[in-house]
Amino acid sequence: MEINTPQKKTILSGMQPTNDLTFGQYAGALRNWVELQHEYDSLFCVVDLHAITVRQEPAKLRKRSLDVAAMYMAAGIDPNISTLFIQSHVPEHAQLAWVLNCMAGFGEVSRMTQFKDKSAQHADNVNVGLFTYPVLMAADILLYNADLVPVGEDQRQHLELTRNLAERFNFHYSPTFTVPEPFIPKVGAKIMSLQEPEKKMSKSDANDKATVFLIDSDDVIMSKIKRAVTDSGTDIVYDAEKRPGVANLMTIHHITTGKSIAEIQSDFDGLGYAEFKEAVGEALVAFIRPVRERYTALRSNEESLKATLKSGAEHARDRARKVLRKVYKKTGFVEL
Ligand code: TYM
Repeated sequence: MEINTPQKKTILSGMQPTNDLTFGQYAGALRNWVELQHEYDSLFCVVDLHAITVRQEPAKLRKRSLDVAAMYMAAGIDPNISTLFIQSHVPEHAQLAWVLNCMAGFGEVSRMTQFKDKSAQHADNVNVGLFTYPVLMAADILLYNADLVPVGEDQRQHLELTRNLAERFNFHYSPTFTVPEPFIPKVGAKIMSLQEPEKKMSKSDANDKATVFLIDSDDVIMSKIKRAVTDSGTDIVYDAEKRPGVANLMTIHHITTGKSIAEIQSDFDGLGYAEFKEAVGEALVAFIRPVRERYTALRSNEESLKATLKSGAEHARDRARKVLRKVYKKTGFVEL
């Protein structure tokens, strides 16, 4: 483990183990984690406590939590320089969430658009955990005094709530928490569905052609890209509002090749959608293949994966315990 030098700023982020990871999650968050880990004191967790706000099959949740951790590593998270752990292994997350729940307003939490969307999606199970989910997310972040939180666009509102809770606690008691900033990339913060490019690419889309998963085979990736919904135009021009399907494919191509949007536009000048989709598919296949292969190798050694997660949890817990102790003391709980 690299020494945590005090001048390094801290980042923390996480993903839910509710399905295999998608290219959207990679583009919006994971690729920035990989970049930033070299500059920042970094913590990345698999947020299994968050996952049970939607009904989960226990065996699947257990498996997927390990899958997601292995995928973090396959994408480039190095457990020798970053702290990699599973949220439920650090009980302080739930403990801090309770204190923050008692500071969060019912009204402000009701405004969270993800809660509104998810309660509509899971109308048969609108549980209290789903409602207070963003407060648990705030606890994840504040517990380590993260300065920066690399996430996709859909988490911006949760970050705003986190900042409000940190400021409220600091004001009400005394300065305790760092007020974190979101780190949302300029490009790729919202990869769109391949089938309905007006909405976000989602791991839980009922239409499996809408989402590229990081474990998809070459053929599956190619076929999803070829069948991606575009529009009736013919030229490859970036216009996210009028032509979201093509714009989304251009963004994907930019991320997998490093070419700028202007370069892509000029490369495909005069060519049609079929050629463009072929190139986008090929680059995406070439990009995902080594990630998938590393994932398969890492996932096949469960013992080593669990050992990594155990040491990550121990390290995270050491830090979390100190912050929680401070919070409990300020809150007025008796220390023994
Ligand atoms: P989750 O698991 O839904 O998604 C993980 C991350 O991926 C980003 N993302 C996307 N980015 C671009 N395009 C997309 N189509 C796309 N889909 C997902 C998300 O913005 C997110 O950054 N609440 C969080 C998990 C969480 C968390 C935290 C994050 C819990 N505690 C503390 C940061 C810090 C969530 O449900 O992400």
